[in-house]
Amino acid sequence: MPKAKIKKRILTGDRPTGPLHLGHYVGSLENRVKLQDKYECFFIISDYAYITDRLVETKKLNNNVKSLVLDYLSVGIDPKKSTIYVQSKIPQVAELALLFSMMVTLSRLKRNPTIKEEIKDRGISKVSYGFMGWPIIQAADILCVRADLVPVGEDQVPHIEQTREIARDFNRMFGRIFPIPEVLTGKVARLPGLDGRKMSKSLGNAINLSDSPKQIKEKINRAITDPKRIHSFDKGHPEICNIFQYYKAFNREELSEIKEKCQKGKIGCVACKEKMTKAINEFLEPIRERRNFYEKKKDIVKEILNSGNKKTEKETAKTLTLVKEKMHLDYKSLL
Ligand code: TRP
Repeated sequence: MPKAKIKKRILTGDRPTGPLHLGHYVGSLENRVKLQDKYECFFIISDYAYITDRLVETKKLNNNVKSLVLDYLSVGIDPKKSTIYVQSKIPQVAELALLFSMMVTLSRLKRNPTIKEEIKDRGISKVSYGFMGWPIIQAADILCVRADLVPVGEDQVPHIEQTREIARDFNRMFGRIFPIPEVLTGKVARLPGLDGRKMSKSLGNAINLSDSPKQIKEKINRAITDPKRIHSFDKGHPEICNIFQYYKAFNREELSEIKEKCQKGKIGCVACKEKMTKAINEFLEPIRERRNFYEKKKDIVKEILNSGNKKTEKETAKTLTLVKEKMHLDYKSLL
C-alpha cells in the first residue's frame, strides 16, 4: 500500500497587541487561510512574547487575546482545519525555552538584528533577561511542535535563523529529534497606512478588520492622497497615491479605469475615496458576518481555544519526553 502523504507542519502566529488591520490581512492572514488546505497549521497567540516588553500592560491581555482569536476566525482561519492556541497555556514551551537557554551564548543573542532594532526603536532602557531571550522562546514555540515551515515577515527571519541553529546544535549534541525549520516566504504584499507610512497600530494609520463602516469612512476621508493634487481637475499621480495602492488590493476591477481617470484629472480624490470606502466595506462584509457569529457564540470560541491548547499540548508533551530522554533528564530507573 502506498504510504499516506503526511502534510508538512506550519507554525506561525502573533503577539496579542491589539486588533489586526488590513496590512496584516494582505501581508499574512490571507496567505494563512490558503495554507490551511495544504499544511497542518498551528497558530500561536504569543502572550509571553507580549510580556517580554509590556510587563506593565498585562491588564490588556484578556481583551487582546479575545480580539485576536476573533480576528483569526473572522478572516477564515478554520478551527476544523487548523489549531489555534495560547502560548502560556502550553507548559512545555517554557520548559523547552529554559533548556535551550543553556545552549545559546549571550553574545549570540546580542548580535540579533531584530533585538537590536527593537531596543533602539522602542527606546527600551532597561533590557531584561527575558527580553534578550525572546528568540529562544520563539525557538521553543517552533521546535516544541516540531514545525517544518514558518511563514513570517522579514523582521522575524533572524529568530528563525537562531531556531535553526538551536535545532542543529541539539541534534548534534544529543541526537536527531528536531526538523530544521525553514522560513516560508511568499511574495510579500504590503499595504501602506492612511498616511503612506507602513500600516501600523502605533502610528495610528491603520484600518482594522474590526472597524465599523462609519470608522472606515472617516479614516479613508482623512487619508493622504497625491499631495501634488489640489483641485479635482488637476492631473493626478496614482503611483504616489496611497488610496491607489488600496485599489490594487481591494478593487482590481476598477484599477485601470481609475488610474486613467486620475491621470487625466477626470475623477477627484473625494469620489475616488468614496469608491474605495465601498470596496473595503464589501470586502469586510463576510469577515464582519463571521465575527458577529463568533462574538455571539462565546462558548464556541472557548471550546476552539481549549481544544487547540489541548491538541498542541499533546504534541509538545511528546517533544519534551524525547528531549528529556536524549538529555538524560528522564531518570527512568530512578524515579
Ligand atoms: N512573531 C511573533 C512574535 O513576535 C509571534 C510568534 C511567536 C511567532 N512565536 C512564533 C511567529 C513562532 C512564528 C513562529 O513573537
